[in-house]
Amino acid sequence: KVKAAVFASGTGSNFDAIIGRSNLACEIVVLICDKPGAPVIEKAISSGIQTLVLNPKAFVSKQEYETKILHFLRKMDVEWIFLAGYMRLIGPTLLAAYEDRIINTHPSLLPAFPGKDAISQAIQAGVKVTGVTIHFVDEGMDTGPIIAQRALEVLEDDTEATLKVRIQDVEHELYPEVINRLVRG
Ligand code: GAR
Repeated sequence: KVKAAVFASGTGSNFDAIIGRSNLACEIVVLICDKPGAPVIEKAISSGIQTLVLNPKAFVSKQEYETKILHFLRKMDVEWIFLAGYMRLIGPTLLAAYEDRIINTHPSLLPAFPGKDAISQAIQAGVKVTGVTIHFVDEGMDTGPIIAQRALEVLEDDTEATLKVRIQDVEHELYPEVINRLVRG
């Protein structure tokens, strides 16, 4: 099987959805995490997946930070990178090494509501429809070419919390599906 890495910074519900997918077309061989103490780390460890936790602040530059990651990924024969709540821009070092091989999930219908708090942005804007976007990663924040989107109605009494549950349910289904399509070519 083709080998892949997940990059995550937080809870790891998407990480779980990817590794839990029964017919995943690739093997997730490593979790890269930039937040020491993030819950996703425990999830990877208990699933027996190698984990590289790095604090970017411990490096003199993003280039050094990403070079360290790149060495690790190469050593493990990683061919694809899936961002799953990785709250950091990917720099030129990784983008050049993994051209068209870095994918992200985002909890809105891009280009609407990019950035960190897409769900609360949608609630605040009062939109009636939002959703999930899976896209190729470029140097921008949630800006690369869109691969797939799924729309979802915002209900009258939705709060950020209730909307987040439904958005993430969609994400957990759509992201592994798209990963399979891409990896199988
Ligand atoms: C996910 O909903 C993901 O779409 C979002 O962070 C959440 C991480 O949750 N990503 C972004 O907002 C990227 N701009 P998780 O850690 O439970 O998978």
